[in-house]
Amino acid sequence: MVGGGIFRLNGESEEGDRVQTPTQQKILIIYSTTDGHTIVICKRLQEVIEQHAHRVTIVGIDDWQQVDLKGFDKIVVGASIRYGKHSPKVFDFIKRNQALLDSKPNAFFSVNVVARKPEKNQPHTNPYLLKFLKRIAWKPKQLAVFAGKIDYPRYKFLDRMMIRFIMWITKGPTHPSTVVEFTNWQQVEAFGQVIAGM
Ligand SMILES: Cc1cc2nc3c(=O)[nH]c(=O)nc-3n(C[C@H](O)[C@H](O)[C@H](O)COP(=O)(O)O)c2cc1C
Repeated sequence: MVGGGIFRLNGESEEGDRVQTPTQQKILIIYSTTDGHTIVICKRLQEVIEQHAHRVTIVGIDDWQQVDLKGFDKIVVGASIRYGKHSPKVFDFIKRNQALLDSKPNAFFSVNVVARKPEKNQPHTNPYLLKFLKRIAWKPKQLAVFAGKIDYPRYKFLDRMMIRFIMWITKGPTHPSTVVEFTNWQQVEAFGQVIAGM
């Protein structure tokens, strides 16, 4: 049984009996973000997963030691890319908890703007995710990559210039007032369903 004895009423049988099944799971999503878009994605995943009557806890990578990882049925890690890299804290978390991650259903997703390109929006075609997987010994059981957000007005001057330059090279938006969300929310929701069912 998964979920420590929490039961969900699944409805009634033809005879009118209440059918009770031990389906509720405790799912942890650990995120690494700089500008907050990965948290927005985590919250959408939470909405989808909780429609299955599971319970989702979302925790920042800085706070993972404050939760009892063993107490969760599934663990999901999500991290955004900044200047070509996921945060070193993500690698550290994985290294320190690999055995525990491997002992449960688990998943990883990456958030970056290269994934706005159709030919780079799958786990096996996204260069950051491929590079990431080569660097870690953990083999996440489920993977996803989501296109992120560009929000020039909120970036510091140098960051804004750098990202505009990268966007210019890769034929993305460069106007300094641009705020654009490339995230395919159907893709996020579909991943939520995968997590709920894994
Ligand atoms: C300073 C900066 C550097 C970035 N570097 C990259 C990059 O190298 N490759 C990429 O695909 N996206 C890059 N991005 C885009 C972010 O991955 C995207 O904005 C994502 O939505 C950020 O998620 P977060 O808000 O959770 O940190 C960068 C964004 C910023 C602001």
